[in-house]
Amino acid sequence: MAVLEIKKYPDNILRIKAEPVRKIDSTILSLIDDMTETMYAAPGVGLAATQVGVSLRIMVVDVGLKEEGSGLIVLINPEIISVHGEIEEEEGCLSVPDYKAQIKRAEIITVRGLNKEGREIEIESTSLLARVIQHEIDHLNGVLIIDRMSPIKRELFKKKFRKVLKLMAH
Ligand code: NI
Repeated sequence: MAVLEIKKYPDNILRIKAEPVRKIDSTILSLIDDMTETMYAAPGVGLAATQVGVSLRIMVVDVGLKEEGSGLIVLINPEIISVHGEIEEEEGCLSVPDYKAQIKRAEIITVRGLNKEGREIEIESTSLLARVIQHEIDHLNGVLIIDRMSPIKRELFKKKFRKVLKLMAH
């Protein structure tokens, strides 16, 4: 296993819509292991393959309600099949470091996907888990939290970000 480099905004790879996984082979399984290790090392509660520069529809999530490792959920080709309610909460992203924003998401979701063994699983989730799953699926579609902010906040973010880039260049 290895800790992979997490791609950061404004890296263009984060904007690519990931392709479905056609076959779960040893390469995919070792990518999942590396993604899991990278998520725990960050530390983060979720990671999409897009964030490590691989355009495949794979995500790992562990909202840390249990001991490390025991709450791990791997979803391949995830699809949200039902949503209920709406809730706004503060959210961050490993690809947009040191930034938090209030983001509106569905409150309860059901997601369907394949697990590591290639078996179809369905998970109904609420609160943080529902939020993280929606966040990671956004990554697989090339969508970042910045895109979910109000236009005014997005402009403020971009201004602040340009300043940071300038400071780093000097
Ligand atoms: Ni993220």
